[in-house]
Amino acid sequence: MKKSAGRKIEIAVFISGTGSNLKNLIKFSKKNKRFKIKLVISNKKNAKGLIFANRNNINTKVYNFKKRSKDEKKMLNILLKEKIQIICLAGFMKILSKNFIKKFNGKVINIHPSLLPNYKGLNTHRRVLDNNEKYSGCTVHFVNSKLDSGKIILQKKVKILKNDTPKKLQKRILKQEHKIYPKALQMIVN
Ligand code: GAR
Repeated sequence: MKKSAGRKIEIAVFISGTGSNLKNLIKFSKKNKRFKIKLVISNKKNAKGLIFANRNNINTKVYNFKKRSKDEKKMLNILLKEKIQIICLAGFMKILSKNFIKKFNGKVINIHPSLLPNYKGLNTHRRVLDNNEKYSGCTVHFVNSKLDSGKIILQKKVKILKNDTPKKLQKRILKQEHKIYPKALQMIVN
């Protein structure tokens, strides 16, 4: 990505729930002055992350995705208007269309709580434990039109412990997600 001196890289974060990754990216952008989280989009109006975004004076929008193509059109308008350069999906549980992703020219990235290409989709921690895996982890990747499938940017392994539960594992993996998402962002703009 082109670096223009002094100009911040403007980011939109898409969420559906708690928004701990969003919170972490906001914290990171406050320390690292190259990035600005300018917009938060949610498909759920009561997503907790929206409260945090509002508290930080970040513009928020909600699109319920009942009519995806209509909502994507509206989203594209606002993303262009706000001159968003990168979209970070952070616990966003809707699938974006091929067309929408194309408009962003590969600048949509996602975090997923597994060592992709293993365990795409939902309930990753339960499935990992049921299969007696030794390791799980998290992955930041570019988004393409297939679920959890684009080119991998960064991964972090997390060891499975003896008495692990999906909840315990989720908590340990989330900690690592918060480390690798900002790193991956820096990698793609360098
Ligand atoms: C995170 O664990 C993220 O990796 C996962 O949802 C959680 C959101 O947490 N994303 C996916 O499963 C996407 N396939 P957060 O709302 O606290 O950031």
